[in-house]
Amino acid sequence: MKAAPSTSPVPPWRSPPETLVLGCDEVHVWRATLDQTPSQIQSFLHNLAADEQARAERFYFERDREHFIAARGVLRAILGGYLNRVPECLSFCYSSHGKPALAGKPDGDAIRFNVSHSHGIALYAVTRGREVGIDLERIRLDLAVAEIAERFFSRREVAMLRTLPTEAQREAFFRCWTRKEAYLKARGEGLSLPLDQVDVSLAPGKPAAVHGIQRDSSEASRWSLQELAPATGYVAALAVAGHGWRLACWQWPDPRQQSV
Ligand SMILES: CC(C)(COP(=O)(O)OP(=O)(O)OC[C@H]1O[C@@H](n2cnc3c(N)ncnc32)[C@H](O)[C@@H]1OP(=O)(O)O)[C@@H](O)C(=O)NCCC(=O)NCCS
Repeated sequence: MKAAPSTSPVPPWRSPPETLVLGCDEVHVWRATLDQTPSQIQSFLHNLAADEQARAERFYFERDREHFIAARGVLRAILGGYLNRVPECLSFCYSSHGKPALAGKPDGDAIRFNVSHSHGIALYAVTRGREVGIDLERIRLDLAVAEIAERFFSRREVAMLRTLPTEAQREAFFRCWTRKEAYLKARGEGLSLPLDQVDVSLAPGKPAAVHGIQRDSSEASRWSLQELAPATGYVAALAVAGHGWRLACWQWPDPRQQSV
C-alpha cells in the first residue's frame, strides 16, 4: 500500500498487511492499546529478556507493570514481524541516554525504532536506516501550560502561543511539546538537551516543522517532523532523519478486534 508524503495529513490507522515490508523511504507507525488481557500479559512476559522482566518487577503499581510488559511485548511482536523472527529471540541494547535499539552489528539499512506510551496507548515508529523519534502525550487539563511554556519553550514558540485564542493554547502547547520531544528522542538524547534549544512550529493547521536547533539551521534541515492523530484527547509527533519518506499507520493487532 502507498503511504502518504511526510508533510501531508495523517493517514488513517489501518489493519497491517500479512507480510511486513519496509523500504528505506518508508516510515511505519503502529498504535496499540496497553490494556491487554491477563493471559496476553502472561504470554508477553514470557517473551521478555531477564533485564526487562526485572524492570517489570520494580513497578509499584500493577497497572504500570502490566503496561510496561504490554509495551515491550507488542514491540517485540512488531519488530519480529519485520525481521521474520520470534519475539523472544530479539535482544535490545541501550545508548548512554537509554534509547533502546536492536542489538547486533550496525548496518546502514538496519531496522530502527522508537516507542512512546501514555495512559494506556503506545505508539511505535519503525524505519530502515533512519534515525527516528516519536512522542505521545495525553492532553492534560491540570497543567499551567503558559507558565511551563515560559520556562521550557523558545522565545519564538512562547510568542506564537500567546497569539492563539486561550481555548487553542492547551492543545498547541502539547503539540509543541511532542514535536520537541520526538526530535530529542530521534537524536537519542531525550530531555538531556534543553527544550528551548529546539524551535518547532505549533500553530493549528500548520505543518509540523523544525525551525531551528541551537540556532543551527543546517541541523534543523536534516530532520522532518510529522503530526500524528493517536486518539481523541492525545497528541503525538514523529521526527525522522531526512526528507521524502512516506508514512503508513497500522493498528496493532487489528482494529476489528480491538479499539482505543
Ligand atoms: C526518553 C525520555 C524523553 C522519555 O520520556 P517520556 O515522555 O517519559 O516517555 P515516552 O513514553 O515518550 O518514551 C519512553 C520510551 O522511549 C524510549 N527511550 C528511552 N530513553 C530514550 C532516549 N534517550 N531517546 C529516545 N528514546 C528513549 C524507550 O523505549 C522508552 O520506553 P520504556 O520506558 O518502555 O523503555 C526521557 O526518559 C529522557 O529524557 N531520557 C533520557 C534520560 C537520560 O539522559 N538518562 C541518562 C542515564 S540512562
